[in-house]
Amino acid sequence: MTRLTTAVDPHDPDYLAHHAAATARLAELDAEHAKALLGGGEKYTARHKGRGKLLARERIELLLDPDTPFLELSPLAAWGSDHPVGASMVTGIGTVEGVECLVTANDPTVRGGASNPWTLKKALRANEIARQNRLPCISLVESGGADLPSQKEIFIPGGAIFRDLTRLSAAGIPTVAVVFGNSTAGGAYIPGMSDHTIMIKDRSKVFLGGPPLVKMATGEESDDESLGGADMHARTSGLADYYALDEHDAIRQARRVVARLNHRKPHPDPQPAEEPKYDPEELLGIVPADLKTPFDPREVIARIVDGSDFDEFKPLYGTSLVTGWATLHGYPVGILANAQGVLFSAESQKAAQFIQLANQRDIPLLFLHNTTGYMVGKEYEQGGIIKHGSMMINAVSNSRVPHLSVLIGASYGAGHYGMCGRAYEPRFLFAWPSAKSAVMGPAQLAGVLSIVARQSAAAKGQPYDEEADAGMRAFVEAQIETESLPMFLSGRLYDDGVIDPRDTRTVLGLCLSAVHNAPVEGARGGFGVFRM
Ligand code: COA
Repeated sequence: MTRLTTAVDPHDPDYLAHHAAATARLAELDAEHAKALLGGGEKYTARHKGRGKLLARERIELLLDPDTPFLELSPLAAWGSDHPVGASMVTGIGTVEGVECLVTANDPTVRGGASNPWTLKKALRANEIARQNRLPCISLVESGGADLPSQKEIFIPGGAIFRDLTRLSAAGIPTVAVVFGNSTAGGAYIPGMSDHTIMIKDRSKVFLGGPPLVKMATGEESDDESLGGADMHARTSGLADYYALDEHDAIRQARRVVARLNHRKPHPDPQPAEEPKYDPEELLGIVPADLKTPFDPREVIARIVDGSDFDEFKPLYGTSLVTGWATLHGYPVGILANAQGVLFSAESQKAAQFIQLANQRDIPLLFLHNTTGYMVGKEYEQGGIIKHGSMMINAVSNSRVPHLSVLIGASYGAGHYGMCGRAYEPRFLFAWPSAKSAVMGPAQLAGVLSIVARQSAAAKGQPYDEEADAGMRAFVEAQIETESLPMFLSGRLYDDGVIDPRDTRTVLGLCLSAVHNAPVEGARGGFGVFRM
């Protein structure tokens, strides 16, 4: 066994300062998560409950196996936008009759559960997760359809929701729709495109056009029940496969549908694993509040992998990137973690080699980000930093083993790409509250703008306004700082959630279990041309 040692001292003043800063950030994060839990607020929640209906999260809780976890995804979607935090939908992964499923549930307390642009992004991300990891997809539907004032942003791209459902089905990934209320107009294609549909007596309303629209279109007088009630769909149209008497009965039937899917995970679940040797609480004291101060990522690895046992690869070469092998909740993982922040040529080549090895061995990769990007400057350009960075990005792009990314500190510039940032399609990407991500650091970005403006003024022979420059720099720095923060980025769906560092091992364990619903097979060759 090669157990990691630790230099963390929980009485050290630096540790205590980092811990205090992390605790303050977590309190801010909790306040934002609480907003998502409130949904449409007290008034609409009371009205919904007064109608004898369950809330979105209550529906999910009843659907899942008792005492099993729910890995909620994108809870901060729409943060910082004009729409409520959470984007009127709850998505996540949970276990139903022993089968890991991707669950989505409209939140009807938020504008009737209508889908705004952020709801759409969140739903599409959920579909992508179901597809990549071959997770059965259960939609708990109750929605006023498109959020009409923002229809221009969702109508055309929104068709992808229905396309995805049928593509999941075509790929042999089961889809189940349980209709709790409205599922009209385009929304009708959710049950329409699902493999299995359950509708509820006197509750489900599934029609292309409601009574007013039908009257306008054809002059026909009609009512909700005859156009789209559960009775009609179960007995007459055949759109409903199962007829439920109430919400609890519908959820019970959904569980029975999943029990009969004959869904088989291609990889057996691993044996229970040894816990890390060190207290995960100490993860709060490792990352400095100022990301310019380096920290040893082995301290993080020691608190998330089984038994704190880590076999480091090339420990003496390219030392600002730590690479090595471990297991996490019994699943083998290859870990790449930034150490001193900057990626040089040696680190890039080491990463490319390590990623190839993981592909040869079918081992998932975990990227722990804390990088300010690839090294710049004459010496490094002449040394081929572009070629070597390209090798790493090539390896990440064409690697076929599942990738998981966690932004723990900085994730700037092309370093974000090389470390499998969002555009490189990691199966899951989470951020710690301490993370920051942008094209570069705020001060550097403001400084670059200032130099460019100064050169432009000089080229025109104009005097440079130093006072205006200082104002511009302060403004830009503040703007970039805000836009680099995890809540802002999570609001835009650039991650799958901001997590408490102490939950990292649990979250990654759930992700690793989820990814093993699809075959884990690395690329044997199939990389692009490595420029040597
Ligand atoms: N777009 C934007 N806002 C919507 C909306 C939609 N599609 N559907 C509902 N809302 C808003 C309502 O205006 C209302 O806002 P307010 O509280 O500020 O007045 C709030 O959501 C709640 O709606 P309400 O009608 O009071 O709730 P309900 O639970 O009684 O009924 C619906 C919910 C969805 C059945 C009903 O609102 C409805 O039929 N909406 C329109 C459905 C539709 O035709 N959608 C177009 C599909 S493409």
